[in-house]
Amino acid sequence: MFQTSAKTFSVSAATASAYRRVFLVGLRRYCKKTSTKLRVSEALSGAQLGADVKVQGWVRSVRPQKNNIFLHVNDGSSLQSLQIVADAKLNDPLLTFGSAVEVTGILKKSPHQKQPVELEAEQIRVVGECNPVNFPFKIKKRHSLEYIRQLPHLRCRTNAFSSLLRIRSEATAAIHSYFKNNGFVQIHTPIITSNDCEGAGELFQVEPSGPATVDDKNFFSVPAFLTVSGQLHLEVMSGAFSRVYTFGPTFRAENSQSRRHLAEFFMVEAEISFTESLEDLTKVIEDVFRSATERVLARCAEDVDLFHRHVTPGHRDTVEAMLNKSFPVISYTEAIDILHRSSEKFTFPTDWGCDLMTEHEKYLVKHCGNVPVFVTNYPYDLKPFYARDNQDHPMHTAAAVDLLVPGVGELCGGSLREERLNLLMDRLKRVGLEDTYNWYLDLRRFGSVPHGGFGLGFERYLQCVLGVDNIKDVIPFPRFSHSCLL
Ligand code: 4AD
Ligand code: MG
Repeated sequence: MFQTSAKTFSVSAATASAYRRVFLVGLRRYCKKTSTKLRVSEALSGAQLGADVKVQGWVRSVRPQKNNIFLHVNDGSSLQSLQIVADAKLNDPLLTFGSAVEVTGILKKSPHQKQPVELEAEQIRVVGECNPVNFPFKIKKRHSLEYIRQLPHLRCRTNAFSSLLRIRSEATAAIHSYFKNNGFVQIHTPIITSNDCEGAGELFQVEPSGPATVDDKNFFSVPAFLTVSGQLHLEVMSGAFSRVYTFGPTFRAENSQSRRHLAEFFMVEAEISFTESLEDLTKVIEDVFRSATERVLARCAEDVDLFHRHVTPGHRDTVEAMLNKSFPVISYTEAIDILHRSSEKFTFPTDWGCDLMTEHEKYLVKHCGNVPVFVTNYPYDLKPFYARDNQDHPMHTAAAVDLLVPGVGELCGGSLREERLNLLMDRLKRVGLEDTYNWYLDLRRFGSVPHGGFGLGFERYLQCVLGVDNIKDVIPFPRFSHSCLL
């Protein structure tokens, strides 16, 4: 309503709003005023109501109506998109699902319950076009993880995968915080190395792609590989730091199409000096798991909810149960007993001395109440040279521990390390590696202390928390045998 001294004229709300918009656009140009740039999550927080703002992102939905056009714009900062309301005159045929836009206008409290705020647009600029006919994702359609997995260069534009990436980022930060808050020093262990820590031979060799530079020999003075574990380098640091950790890419040339193996995955590894008990290790493993998971559930509630509601319904209860109970500990010998007593028909043998296979691991987890379970003291001969000899008899075991978790099986592998020079030297001699690992023996020659550590597969951790069946769905760019690389 405009009131003059004598008469009252009624003007429709739409017309008033249009006048206001023209006025503001003119004013902006005249004053060369710049709007405050906000991320969608900041805009949605409602802190800047009434402010003149600029938001940039990608269109997730377009709904043209007679007088107005409604858009939802997302910039990856949250699962929620920001609703944009614009006069129909601002509609543009290039404003399509998937296009990139820059919108300026006034942030307002939304009259609709679905969103707290909306942006009343004064200007919409299409920054990058997107032909919705050719774009492989369709508006309002929930695409399966299998479908989006085939589009590794585009899948971050779906709700599910962008949620996954935010969760992954938060979990990474949570893990670093845990170690920082608990006095661990982060070590950047090398990617290129000459050691095969696990001794399983699943190595990628590293050589220059061009012609050999020096006498047709290796580029390094010894054959070099992509790391399979940062453990031995962490053990070097354990000679001077009582608590160290590393968190980085790890490579294994496993010819496996499995749902829990990758050729490149991320591993969290920690090494603790002056420890003589596996309990010290299991405590840290359990604490890392709990603190990271609690933080992810608290800080990425909407994103996690998307998985727990739509991707793996019911998984939330499993996660709550994991957090509410402490993780049981059983020995390998007890595990074999449990498997023997079960009526389940296993494909692989369950005799004492055999490695536990995924089917066994999953059974043990169910048997223990579908919560993570530690299995300790594995047969000595199953474990790599560095695992500490328990010197027991007749069941000869090493002080090693695995953490098995629901839906995934093995999440962590660790052990006390053989710190006794003579025992370590004998074992290395038996496998002919005494010279190769002379530097490792030095660690036992000079100020050796009882120590131990573990490695946690980060992708398997995400699978476990989100209930995702295939490991390829929890890493930005999966690498596995016969995969096409971007
Ligand atoms: O059990 P692993 O082989 O242990 C080690 O490498 C030790 N040196 C770690 C240490 O003590 N510092 O690997 C540790 C974890 C596994 O439990 C599993 O979760 C994950 O790494 N992992 C894989 N994840 C994805 N793809 C693969 N190919 C993996 N291989 C192991
Ligand atoms: Mg293992």
